[in-house]
Amino acid sequence: MKILAIETSCDDTSAAVLDGRVVLSNVTASQDAVHAPFGGVVPELAARRHLETIQDVLRGALDKAATALTAIDAIAVTRGPGLVGSLLVGVSAARGLALGTGLPLVGIHHLEGHALSPLLAREIDFPFLSMVVSGGHSSLYLVRDIGDYEEVASTRDDSAGEAFDKGAKMLGLGYPGGKRIDDLASKGDRRAIAFPRGRVKADPLAMSFSGLKTALWDYLGAHPGEVAIADVCASFQEAIVDVLVARATASMERFGVDRVAVAGGVSANSRLRQRMQEAAPGAVFPPMNLCTDNAAMIAYAAVRRLERGLACDDLEVLSRLPLGRRTSPSPSRAAASPAGASDTTAAAPAGGASAATATARLPVVG
Ligand code: KG4
Ligand code: ZN
Repeated sequence: MKILAIETSCDDTSAAVLDGRVVLSNVTASQDAVHAPFGGVVPELAARRHLETIQDVLRGALDKAATALTAIDAIAVTRGPGLVGSLLVGVSAARGLALGTGLPLVGIHHLEGHALSPLLAREIDFPFLSMVVSGGHSSLYLVRDIGDYEEVASTRDDSAGEAFDKGAKMLGLGYPGGKRIDDLASKGDRRAIAFPRGRVKADPLAMSFSGLKTALWDYLGAHPGEVAIADVCASFQEAIVDVLVARATASMERFGVDRVAVAGGVSANSRLRQRMQEAAPGAVFPPMNLCTDNAAMIAYAAVRRLERGLACDDLEVLSRLPLGRRTSPSPSRAAASPAGASDTTAAAPAGGASAATATARLPVVG
């Protein structure tokens, strides 16, 4: 079965061809240069650029796969969550192709694509825990089977990718900044600055990164002029990675699973890969080129759903679309939170920067 998939949920225009579970091609046109001057994705510009590039990207994916449209068996497309204008471009293109060819059309959840994308690197037995850490989302899912997901934890404020991007913006490293922080951090001392590790009193598995962002702002304000940028990047990155590794391992323990996968743009982070492998040997990550948004993961989710005969005929475009059921926080663990922690709070370790400043004064978009 050959699937042609389209992914346009945010700012990457992507198309891919899969033959069964094998990726024949994955072509992605990045919009980084369009959004970089604004320090974050501008929805209207994103939708317009998708319109300009979608045809070339589709043609590129078919050419690279040496596959004619007549050899395709189904068309898959991301229907949400994401930016509505962006999603509509992909869904309209998919509908047009399906109408013209008579091929079946498959609507796929963007986060199901991410959650299953580590399986593109290697098979994992069910159940496993999939941590999706991207620019738009940070959640942990218990994957019991294809189509059977439970969200066991998520962020209360910024996603991990947003934390990287906002940090990079404050440091003048441009957008998106996760990769730049990762590169600079490799030359820095991760113990140089004691940035806070955010905690959520009501839910110990939940993540919070807004206090970390404020702490970086305060640190930069308290050290005008030159800062040792590699040390700042290494310490800032370590604070994010610490939280992600702690939440992943705590969730594995709580749900009794010993297999874990990490996906989404932040899963490309070298320190996160290293720390997760140390904490959970055998942790699986997507191939490096399939961490950020891509159509191969959408095609893959479509293949796995179709193999199981699962429904995927809903093509309604939705900006918000939860994946699976939600687990309520564990009260016993909530009681174990440090005294004094507020509902969403960043507990600063001794010597760390204060996280008390209002985030409203930050000149960041994202
Ligand atoms: O999965 P993705 O393309 O977007 C969403 O679905 O939201 O992820 C993009 C995010 C950006 O925030 C980017 O800074 C981050 O992934 N990212 C990284 C790295 N490469 C990309 N963050 C940390 N380290 C990296 N090496
Ligand atoms: Zn994504």
